[in-house]
Amino acid sequence: MSRIALVTGGTRGIGRAISIALKDSGAQVAANYGGNDEAANAFKDETGIAVYKFDVSNFDACRDGIAKIESDLGAIDILVNNAGITRDKPLHKMDVEQWNAVIDTNLSSAFNTTRNLIDGMRERGFGRIINISSINGQKGQFGQTNYSAAKAGLFGFTKALALETASKGITVNAVAPGYTATEMVMAVPEDVLNSKILPLIPVGRLGEPEEIGRCVVFLAADEAGFITGSTLSANGGQYLT
Ligand code: CAA
Repeated sequence: MSRIALVTGGTRGIGRAISIALKDSGAQVAANYGGNDEAANAFKDETGIAVYKFDVSNFDACRDGIAKIESDLGAIDILVNNAGITRDKPLHKMDVEQWNAVIDTNLSSAFNTTRNLIDGMRERGFGRIINISSINGQKGQFGQTNYSAAKAGLFGFTKALALETASKGITVNAVAPGYTATEMVMAVPEDVLNSKILPLIPVGRLGEPEEIGRCVVFLAADEAGFITGSTLSANGGQYLT
């Protein structure tokens, strides 16, 4: 029986690689996206993975989107909270919209999705919830008070929910990618990337999205039932926890 997986932000960047890796591992995948229809349709045509457009920062939109996925594909067994954005600015230049956008999309989204499918997982006695955090939620990052706070918040969410669901066959884990070769990282000013980030990565390169996909497949497996409340860091040695 193939597992049903929902990957938020699953058509681009790290999410795209996660969707493909889960599909290759035998899961039936629904890839959520927020706005870029063109990229989502190209992804769907290329991979055959179903795409669903809804705003993960909106609770009701998640409720409706998840209901649609479950009516199309069946009950969701694997949830990957991956959707995320950046609005990088030093705090003294950050406005409240930039703060709220990142907290809502990167942290509150995990509540919005999980709350709308946790009852089903509890009833069925199985679930895999994987929250994509970041090295910058572990160590902090200049220009990212909003992003670092949201990603650090995902660790607390992961651990608390892991305790609540441990007796129900549901595991909850975090993956903490380091700097990975995606559009998000490529948007960092080139001089900052070259002078302040790349020299700090001991393996001497950015990560590949597929390397994060592998982490998710590992944690999503039926056989990973003893791993819960943990963080799997994939950062090329940049930050050791
Ligand atoms: N550490 C220390 N100093 C830094 C710094 C850093 N990492 N980054 C920038 N600075 C310094 C600059 O060298 C500059 O110093 P001087 O004034 O002495 O020349 C100063 O900070 C620039 O400060 P400003 O107030 O002018 O900053 P700004 O308004 O130009 O904003 C920034 C700069 C937007 C924060 C820019 O530096 C930036 O984009 N930095 C990268 C942030 C980053 O790493 N984002 C990660 C995106 S990828 C991601 O988030 C995925 C993931 O999970 C890893």
